[in-house]
Order: sequence, then C-alpha cells, then structure tokens
Amino acid sequence: MAYSDKLLDHYENPRNVGTLDKSDDAVGTGMVGAPACGDVMKLQIRVNEQGIIEDAKFKTYGCGSAIASSSLVTEWVKGKTVDQALEIKNTHIAEELALPPVKIHCSILAEDAIKAAVADYRQKHGASAEDKA
Ligand code: FES
Ligand code: FES
Repeated sequence: MAYSDKLLDHYENPRNVGTLDKSDDAVGTGMVGAPACGDVMKLQIRVNEQGIIEDAKFKTYGCGSAIASSSLVTEWVKGKTVDQALEIKNTHIAEELALPPVKIHCSILAEDAIKAAVADYRQKHGASAEDKA
C-alpha cells in the first residue's frame, strides 16, 4: 500500500506534539479512542479571549495515519474559531492525506478529537458559548 507524501511527511515530522496545561481554563482537552483498533488520540486546544484557537497540541498512540491525521488537524485548527474548527470533517482530512479506505477511521478519530476538545473547552466556560451556536 502506497502512502501519500503528505501523510509520510506528517508521520515523520509530526507538528505540535506535546501537552497543554489541562488545568488552564483556556485549554480544552479531547481524548478519544478508536474501538476498531484500540488507538488513542489526545488533542488539546488553547483558545484566546477573542475565541480564536491560538495553540494546539496532540499526543497519539496509534498508527501512522492516526498520527498524521492529528498532526494535520493541529495545523488546521490554529487561527480558527472553535466553530470553524468544528467544521473540519474527517473527509477533508482523508482527502488531504489521501488515506486508503482501511485508514478512514483514523481520520474520524481526529474529527472526534476536535469535537471532544471543543466540548471540554465549552464545558469549562459554561453553556453560554453553546447557546449561541
Ligand atoms: Fe492499531 Fe492502527 S490498527 S495502530
Ligand atoms: Fe486505528 Fe489508525 S487509528 S489504524
């Protein structure tokens, strides 16, 4: 199976690996697991006072496609509002990385991780952000 250059690049040089301070109110943490393979992905975002995601970090225990997907989404969410980040779909990720069909669930994991991180962030900030959506 041939992997795309973009996938290999993100896999070999993953961007934004690391951890943000969970106790920081501006940080949302999403932790998701893939039932299909047992892989785990943690994605964190830090949102500034303007509601813009100014930083993102990930840690993924999983296959190359999962690592590449999470690396890619940390790049994509930076500079976006949380609402815009929620518009990122696994199909965009799969297309960008040219994921083979058996690896689509890796990109779904990344989409779910974004949703989970945003949900955690919003929960920390009460329901107000949710109400406007
Ligand atoms: Fe386990 Fe992807 S199937 S690492
Ligand atoms: Fe399971 Fe990639 S996340 S094989």
